[in-house]
Amino acid sequence: MIIANWKMNKGLVQSQQFVEELKAYVEKHKVVNADIVICPPFTSLEAVSRKIAGTAIKLGAQNMFYQTAGPFTGEISGGMLKSCGCEFVILGHSERRQHFGETNLTVNKKVLKALDEGLKPIICIGENLQEHDDKLTEPVIEEQLAVALTHVSEVDIANVTVAYEPIWAIGTGKNATPHQAEGVHNFLRKKLKKMYSDEISKNARIVYGGSINPENAKELFASPSVNGGLVGGASLEVESFVKIINSTHLI
Ligand code: PGA
Repeated sequence: MIIANWKMNKGLVQSQQFVEELKAYVEKHKVVNADIVICPPFTSLEAVSRKIAGTAIKLGAQNMFYQTAGPFTGEISGGMLKSCGCEFVILGHSERRQHFGETNLTVNKKVLKALDEGLKPIICIGENLQEHDDKLTEPVIEEQLAVALTHVSEVDIANVTVAYEPIWAIGTGKNATPHQAEGVHNFLRKKLKKMYSDEISKNARIVYGGSINPENAKELFASPSVNGGLVGGASLEVESFVKIINSTHLI
């Protein structure tokens, strides 16, 4: 699974151009063994949805609120995302935690609401540089995972993707090594086994995010424990994004 997180980039015209080019590539190369999810800004969701209709490309949003409707100026509900054609929604991205005060608890509320609305959450977790240096990665992400998944049933967990995104690797050009990513993913699987079952842990979709680029993608995706990537900066250009998609089926 390769997810493009465009963050606050691309207006309507740029979004449509990107998808036109990507669509041509996906059709030409018959990309079927990777789930490709584009997460544009809200303002481009509907236009992108129209462009990708009937293709293998899927649509996701970058955030949503946990209420159904009402006096929440500036917020977007899960139902609204569904009505725009979204199948996925990124939740708890570290930039939302850092700039918009999101906590593990609000992430959990959003996860439950997204599942309730029939959306598939992509839950972002990851430690910051200080926590990384202090060797606190495991307790930090264990807490993030456990709280985010509170009350998520054994049935619903099949629709959840976990994205391990070490904050020190996001937008820094300093990716986790394949070995580090594999170690953390294995740790998360152990936790999922404890929380759910062996089978759920084995089938869980856990992707890595943080400075993925065409040069490091193949190595990062090589471990069977890493089920794909959440790509920020390198998803903004079709050429680099396509190279990253290619890294999945060159293995
Ligand atoms: P990056 O962002 O690829 O630019 O590091 C990843 C993310 O924030 O999802």
